[in-house]
Amino acid sequence: MSLLLRGIGELVTNDPARGAVGPGGLGILRDAAVVVEHGRVAWTGPAAAAPAADEAQDLGGRAVIPGFVDSHSHLVFAGDRAAEFAARMTGRPYSAGGIRTTVSATRAASDDDLRANARRLVAEMRRQGTTTVEIKSGYGLDTAHEERSLRIAREFTPETTYLGAHVVPQGHDPAGYLDLVTGAMLAACAPHARWIDVFCERGAFGADAARAVLRAGTAAGLAPRIHANQLGPGPGIEVACETGAASADHCTFASDDDVRNLADSGVVATLLPTIEFSTRQPYPDARRFLAAGVTVALATDCNPGSGFSSSMPFAQALAVRELGMSPAEALWAATAGGAAALRRDDVGRLSPGSRADLAVLDAPSHLHLTYRPGVPLIRAAMLAGSWT
Ligand code: NIG
Ligand code: FE
Repeated sequence: MSLLLRGIGELVTNDPARGAVGPGGLGILRDAAVVVEHGRVAWTGPAAAAPAADEAQDLGGRAVIPGFVDSHSHLVFAGDRAAEFAARMTGRPYSAGGIRTTVSATRAASDDDLRANARRLVAEMRRQGTTTVEIKSGYGLDTAHEERSLRIAREFTPETTYLGAHVVPQGHDPAGYLDLVTGAMLAACAPHARWIDVFCERGAFGADAARAVLRAGTAAGLAPRIHANQLGPGPGIEVACETGAASADHCTFASDDDVRNLADSGVVATLLPTIEFSTRQPYPDARRFLAAGVTVALATDCNPGSGFSSSMPFAQALAVRELGMSPAEALWAATAGGAAALRRDDVGRLSPGSRADLAVLDAPSHLHLTYRPGVPLIRAAMLAGSWT
């Protein structure tokens, strides 16, 4: 069964065969069509040259973009921390200690409650154009609860990340907990995860502990990524570059050396501006990373503590207004950038052979995504060839 999507006013492909691609170049075709077959893109090009297909749908001149790739989220949890957010908005600083509140609620919840909450959030993301999502554990913090979190995350995505090294839970000494995270807990979690992550930050894990976590994970077959330089300057980005992490996430407090290091080592900088929005911290300057040639991704970091937005369009609006990105750079970072952060080449673009993951905008151009912030412009999303 082949499906021809025609009447596409503007098609964002991120396909180098379609012109300059990269931050700032989106491989745009106008008056375009796409043929989808077996869940994949079979053809893209000018509507006038479209091949015949079993079925055709006219999109009425709307814009079509690759589905968003949200490469950083924490969706397996129970409860919320709305009161903590309200307190921050009246001057209380963000504290990673709040993570322990969510750990207690998560441990007390049933599998079905955790599953239902994650399902609701994944559906919320889908309605906002996200077709690939990474999900971390990190609110279990003992072997059984971390393992269960990843089993549940795995029901929603193959991009699962073991984050036993989120914070040291109450009642544990740091050295003993590190042994657990890199020992029995890792052994139980590795079969359900693709990635290993560590929160490298004052008050969480230092450089040596972060290196130990990422190396143990790598030895167990997981690929490294890291929470780095979120709350202050620190060694997180350096550790990311040393250990060959796919991505260093947050990068809010990056030094010039850090930026150079990211560029030289090809580690993606994943910026998470919804977190600065929800913690009232200063935003990072994306121009510093882009000027140095760093690959920049945008993600939501959706979690109940530091920022509870599931919206990739909102992340892009903030990136444009507060991080200094152009609308095209922000869209590239939210699609192809996220794919790079997950080392995926089958998503984040619409070119022959890529997965047919796309979003139809209720707008004539991708510019409207950030030109009309807060407006629900995602008319429909297609996931592997099926409308969701
Ligand atoms: O990415 N930084 C660490 N982890 C999350 C916050 C988790 C929480 O506050 O519950 C983050 O911001
Ligand atoms: Fe996070």
